[in-house]
Amino acid sequence: MLLGETFALRRRPFVKREKTLIPSDLGECGKADSTQISQSLHLFGRFLVSHIEMKTIEPDTVREHVRARYGNIAVNGGGCCGSVDGCCGSENSCDQRLGYSAVHVASVPEGSNLGLGCANPMAIASIRPGETILDLGSGAGFDCFLAARQLNGTGRVIGVDMTPAMIAKARNNIRKGRYTNVEFRLGEIEALPVADNFVDLVISNCVINLSPEKPRVFREAFRVLKAGGRLALADVVAIKPLPESIRTQSNAIGACIGGAALVDDLKTMLKDAGFIRIEIVPRDETRSLINQWTEDKIASDFVVSAFITAFKAA
Ligand SMILES: C[S@@+](CC[C@H](N)C(=O)[O-])C[C@H]1O[C@@H](n2cnc3c(N)ncnc32)[C@H](O)[C@@H]1O
Repeated sequence: MLLGETFALRRRPFVKREKTLIPSDLGECGKADSTQISQSLHLFGRFLVSHIEMKTIEPDTVREHVRARYGNIAVNGGGCCGSVDGCCGSENSCDQRLGYSAVHVASVPEGSNLGLGCANPMAIASIRPGETILDLGSGAGFDCFLAARQLNGTGRVIGVDMTPAMIAKARNNIRKGRYTNVEFRLGEIEALPVADNFVDLVISNCVINLSPEKPRVFREAFRVLKAGGRLALADVVAIKPLPESIRTQSNAIGACIGGAALVDDLKTMLKDAGFIRIEIVPRDETRSLINQWTEDKIASDFVVSAFITAFKAA
């Protein structure tokens, strides 16, 4: 699929055929009486609305597009959720706006920071020595290496990503940095290659918005967390419903905007997955950053970066 293309929309089969205006429904001399016309128009309107609401995009179509986009970035570079032009001027100012210090950035192997995040999840993760940490959509490993730095030689960090070129790059970065407690696994975050009740902390940076099946992601995160474990996510969220022109645009989805879910919907998904003490804090100050991810300058009217925390009961 070409970048910039709009996803082909699948329509579910209609269950019920609405009554249409045919000659036998018309009044004398081919004129419909006004009640019949208004009833028919009303039915036609409802038919159109339900038809539009039924539009869906196949989850695998989204994942294929996202995999191709981030595979290309792993090989050729990119930044700020894939903006080809980079996003924040110099790389340093970009990192600082995302909440990383120069010391953080200098501490990881070169090539692990691809500038693809939307905040620094470590700021809300309260990492403790000895913990097992899982990063959903780990890219080239930037946040995994920073988490390992906080573990200071104890515990372990597992990164999961569905893009083979990202995993290859991240594994190469392990070798460059000689990490002994970091590993990367190829897999989808909707079906994590991780055992039940295995990790203390799930982190993620600008990834869950890309998933076409977010409830599955949260159910999986809950499954792999130990009792008392926690989620600490940085992600893009919608603060009002996205227009269809953004929701179905492949570039907007790949740029971490089109797939953003509404804050209240995310809370419901987390609650339904079993999480408690759910907090979502949208960060208004990230609007200008988001505007640099896309040519569509109205995007930041609808989405911002947010910190998300939640717990699995002890
Ligand atoms: C915006 S990048 C963020 C990378 C990394 N978290 C960072 O901050 O540098 C999104 C990453 O998530 C991965 N990804 C997207 N959807 C995924 C899914 N459904 N399952 C696994 N990985 C996914 C992509 O391959 C890509 O590496």
